[in-house]
Amino acid sequence: MTVSRRTILGLGVAMTTLSSFPLLSSRGYSATGTPPPIKPVPDVSPEPVFVNLHAKVRNANLFGGHELPLWTYHDNILPIVRVPKGGRLKAHFRNDLPEHSSIHWHGIRLPNEMDGVPYVTQQPVYPGHDYTYDFTCPDTGLFPFHSHCNTAEQLGRGLAGALIVTGDETKPYDADLLCVIKDWRLDEDQNFLDFTEKKGAARGGTFGRMRSVNYKSVPSLKAPARGDVRLRLMNVDNSRINQIGLEGADAAVIATDGQAVSPFPFKTWRLGSAMRLDLCLRMPASGNDVKIYDYFAPEPVLLANIRAEGPNLNRGEFDPAPLFAPDITTPDLRNAEHKKIDFSATASPTPNLIPLPNGKTLNLADELCLNEKSFWAINKTTWPEDGHKTMPAPVLNLVKDRTYIFELRNLTPHMHPIHIHGHTFLYLKSNKRSLPQHYTDTVLLKPKERIQVAFKADNPGDWMFHCHIIEHAETGMMSILRVT
Ligand code: C2O
Ligand code: CU
Repeated sequence: MTVSRRTILGLGVAMTTLSSFPLLSSRGYSATGTPPPIKPVPDVSPEPVFVNLHAKVRNANLFGGHELPLWTYHDNILPIVRVPKGGRLKAHFRNDLPEHSSIHWHGIRLPNEMDGVPYVTQQPVYPGHDYTYDFTCPDTGLFPFHSHCNTAEQLGRGLAGALIVTGDETKPYDADLLCVIKDWRLDEDQNFLDFTEKKGAARGGTFGRMRSVNYKSVPSLKAPARGDVRLRLMNVDNSRINQIGLEGADAAVIATDGQAVSPFPFKTWRLGSAMRLDLCLRMPASGNDVKIYDYFAPEPVLLANIRAEGPNLNRGEFDPAPLFAPDITTPDLRNAEHKKIDFSATASPTPNLIPLPNGKTLNLADELCLNEKSFWAINKTTWPEDGHKTMPAPVLNLVKDRTYIFELRNLTPHMHPIHIHGHTFLYLKSNKRSLPQHYTDTVLLKPKERIQVAFKADNPGDWMFHCHIIEHAETGMMSILRVT
């Protein structure tokens, strides 16, 4: 059995912080939970997993009305791809949508050319064309995949999937449930509404009107009575931030954005677009329901039920099993370089015209990737920057293998889930909240909040760094980090 030193260090960091985290007592397990143990490294890499993702219009009846023209990757409209940790995924993407697209593998630390961002990491995949994504999955957990161009509409019409990288369980749970949360922009007659409106884009985003979990209205899931359930939650909505809460069960947080934490008691957790949360919960006695709510609304909104079924299991006191520790290089905090990054509104909207060397102009709005307006900026720069001959210049040039501590500063009265490609942040601290240190690829910034995150810039390339409220990204709050 080989144990890498970096994982041991990672564990140390996580434990120190968790012990200083103010925890609720009166739960049946120790306040800090059992720390994530280190997983033995397997000696052989598993066989590649092949998957065909064929994007096209598929009609589906989601809410009992008439059929909706969804855009999906698969006949199974919400595809779930499973790959073992360290395993290779070969995903053949064919595009038969009416417009170009690509697949971005959100949160996966993969080589730059597999990241699926048109113009930045690959050419767009035009209708009738295809592209094969081929990469290994270094981290366990739950990750969304989605397009990265005209995303308000493409994701709005349902073009998304879940990638589950397996191999993180120290002992099996009694059930493993997935809840993918998304709203739909539908009118009363169940026709799609515009996916973006200026009013929404310039504020908190244009919200959908029909809630769904796993593309269903308030589905009923099932789990063994009195069993310990792993519940994986993922928000794939364009805009809405859900404040997830449970009724009817004790629960602990076991992972954030797929990465293990020492289990700690769950109260509620805010999930912005693309964010994930893994809980371990103890089911009630047979015949009872656990209810999953979004509390971030004037009245709590019921999202899904979990029905306790079968004979009551006897699992003793609730003592949630931890997942194996994350396998991410611990940032070298002592020698880190500090950078301040401001998220703000723009003073003056800039056009999306980019002069090309051949004297022509590239209009990114025409190329589907952006709206015509810019409302938002990162370090005072909107995407794209005016006057650049090619793509916008990186907002920061980072030195490969150096550790950076970013201070993410929200200068707006809105929330922004900030996402980095190709890397995973270690969340250090905030001026507004005390959360335990945890790994995350999408950090929710509250109004006026300042959050420090650290990461080792160990993956070379041009990486997108943006707000995941899709309309915020598409109206300026998007940038490139260059790692060389
Ligand atoms: Cu899930 Cu650049 O995004
Ligand atoms: Cu935003």
